[in-house]
Parts: sequence; C-alpha cells; structure tokens
Amino acid sequence: MAEALRVGIAGLGTVGSSLLKMLDNKGTELTRQCGREIMPVAVSARDRNRNRGVDLTSAKWFDDPVELAQSSDIEVFVELIGGQDGAALASVRAALEAGRHVVTANKALLSKHGVELAAIAEEKGVLLNYEAAVAGGIPVIKTMREAMAGNHVSRVFGIMNGTANYILTRMEAEGIGFEECLKDAQRLGYAEADPTFDIEGHDTAHKLSILTSLAFGCEISADNIYMEGISNITQADIRAASELGFRIKLLGVAQKTESGIEQRVHPTMVPVSSVIAQVHGVTNAVAIETDMLGELLLSGPGAGGDATASAVIGDIADIAKSRPGFQHGPVFGWPAKELAPYKRARMRAHAGGYFIRLTVHDRTGVFAAIATRMADSDISLESIVQHGEATVEAHKTVILVTHETTEAAVRKAVDGITEDGHLTTKPQVIRIERAE
Ligand code: HSE
Repeated sequence: MAEALRVGIAGLGTVGSSLLKMLDNKGTELTRQCGREIMPVAVSARDRNRNRGVDLTSAKWFDDPVELAQSSDIEVFVELIGGQDGAALASVRAALEAGRHVVTANKALLSKHGVELAAIAEEKGVLLNYEAAVAGGIPVIKTMREAMAGNHVSRVFGIMNGTANYILTRMEAEGIGFEECLKDAQRLGYAEADPTFDIEGHDTAHKLSILTSLAFGCEISADNIYMEGISNITQADIRAASELGFRIKLLGVAQKTESGIEQRVHPTMVPVSSVIAQVHGVTNAVAIETDMLGELLLSGPGAGGDATASAVIGDIADIAKSRPGFQHGPVFGWPAKELAPYKRARMRAHAGGYFIRLTVHDRTGVFAAIATRMADSDISLESIVQHGEATVEAHKTVILVTHETTEAAVRKAVDGITEDGHLTTKPQVIRIERAE
C-alpha cells in the first residue's frame, strides 16, 4: 500500500472538528477507497485549550497556520480558518508556493483571490480543491468543473445560503420572527462568524461569483454582484407571496445577457409549484441551465459541520487517489490565464416580473395615481389588489404584480409613486424569477 497522505488542518471550528471526527470514524473505509491512509498529522487553531470533542494528542500543534502550510511534514494543507484575507490568504498562498496541495472551504477567500491562487496552483502543478466552499455538501464544483465540459451554460441560480433559507422557511411555516430563527441557525452551526454575511447576501454572492466563473469561463468578480439581503422581508411579504402562489427565497442568479453577465443576489418570488420552492430549511439547491442538458438541479445540505466536512473529505480523497506526475486539471475549469475578463450587465437592464407592496393612505385617487405611474413607465400589470390588511386604520396595502418589464422601468414608477405622496412607508419591491 502507498504511504499515508499527510494532512495539516488549519481552523478547528464547526467544520474542522467534524472533519477530524469523520476522518477518525471513517478511516478504514477511506483507506480502502483511496489505497492509502489519510492521516491528519498537524493542526493549527486560535485556541489550543478549547475542548472540541476530538483527540489532538497525535497531531503536531502549530500556533502559526503559515508555518503549518509550509511544513515539510504535510502534503495537503486544509484551510478552514475563514475570512477573505489575513491568515487564510497568507497560509493558502504559502502552501501553494511551497508545492502543497490545498483544500479550502473558504468562499470569501476564493471570491477575492481565487484567480491569483489558481494561477499559483496551476504553475506549481498542485491541486486547489474547494468543493465545500459552495453549497456545503452538494458536489456542485465537481459537477460544473468536471462533468459539464462542452456545455454552454445560459443561467445558474439557486439557494446557496442555508442560514437564510432556514430563516425564511421557519418564518413562513411557523410565523415566527427573524431574530429567533437566526439564533437557532447560529446554535445549529449554520451561520457565518458574522451572520450579516448570511442575511445580507454576501455569503451567497461569494458562492455565486465562483459558480459564475465555472459557468462562463470568466474571471471571478464578486464586486460586480447586485446584492440585497432578507432582513427587510416581513410576515406581510410572506403572506402576500403565499396568497399569490409564490414563495420567497434568497436566490443567487448568474445569467448571460446581450449586454454581459448579470449577477444578482436578492430575495426572490418563485412559483410555489417550482422545484426550488420546495427546498426548505438548511437545504441548498443549484440549478444549471445548459444547451446540452436543459436544466440540471442539485440539492442537498448546504451548511453544518458534517455536510461540509463530507465535501472536504471528498477533496482530500481526490488528492489521495491522484497519481504522482499526473497533470491536474485547471482550478476553475479553464486555465487561470485564459479566464476572460468579466463583463457586467447593468442591473437597470434586468428583465423580469416584479412584486410591489405599497402601504398607502386610504383616500380617493390613490389607485388611479399608481396605475398612471405604471402606465407612464410602460409597465403592464398582471394584478393589482387592495388588501384589507394594514397596521393603521387609515392605511391600506396595495399589491401589484407586473408582467415582464425592466428594473429601470420599475424604479422609475416606484420613484414616481413615492413622489406623489400617497405612501406611508417605504415601498417593498421583490423580483420574480422564472423557475420550473
Ligand atoms: N453560513 C453558510 C450558510 C455556511 O448558512 O450557508 C455554508 O457556507
């Protein structure tokens, strides 16, 4: 049998601790599958004394993850530190420069430095594997990078943040408040260290930017993503969505348009009959539309220690099985040097349907004024209804659903309605996404 694969792990939080437990529990199976043992020989974390429920006595401890990354004791450096720069960047860069294979779950890091790191990995002839960085345990990276060669992708979209989906699901199913749901998501180990990353869409944007590069062969461009989070979604939106046959999901969407690539993350109304609307709780789902496949949908656990550790182990196992001297494929499906510059489509040109919820003064002429503003912007309405539901006696809720229009037209109409002085609160605008 070949020599054991020596692995160093930096970062022993939820995922790191699960990884060590799983490597221990599944050692015999993994050795049979890979033809060699996977041995965690060294670790690094911030706090040496914390009880993680794993035995670290046989692993060498490093206070500095960069030192671990460069250590000749290891062949594979697993980065589970997190964060876009700092220790994560320094250690991954150091590991690649030193000719170590790298496995990372760090979407924030790759969304900013992925192309640079891929170029180093490709030059050094080592692997940079990152299955756990997008959609937790779902093998979406391997699918897009390895199983879809030759396919022309037109759109990739999905639910890529388990925390946000968990919150929206419970808000709808149990009618409970946002804060309570978030606390539970944190307790279950789903949320980021800073949960605003989950709620405000940053985490989805990081993941989307990686899928965009794989889908369209372009450079990663997370700064060019239009982003709105779910913190403004209320029970009133959830109820109105349900009455209209929709469900609200935080989606990341990347699609090719005539003017460039559109990347956006925002709360989205999806038809309640669509497959993506049935994705509940911490589950993620990614849909990929291509010329050869039609629509491919991958669904599974998107966060949590064991699910994410599963993806990390898959990446380590690939390295354990790889043959010395064998040329590895490019990190983002195309050689890093050949990734095309990113061309951004303007969000104002986005075409689609819109849900607009307005709270208005209950007085004559309001409906007519709203309809006029819509007509002035060339927006055709699918429905306009007045809801009895309002928090204040003299206020009424008006809900509009548009036929396909543009973002620019909707913004113009909503600005006009606001100027007319009929609104009592900020208008709520939620995009509708076509989904089967
Ligand atoms: N905080 C992330 C989520 C973890 O909730 O999806 C997985 O990336």
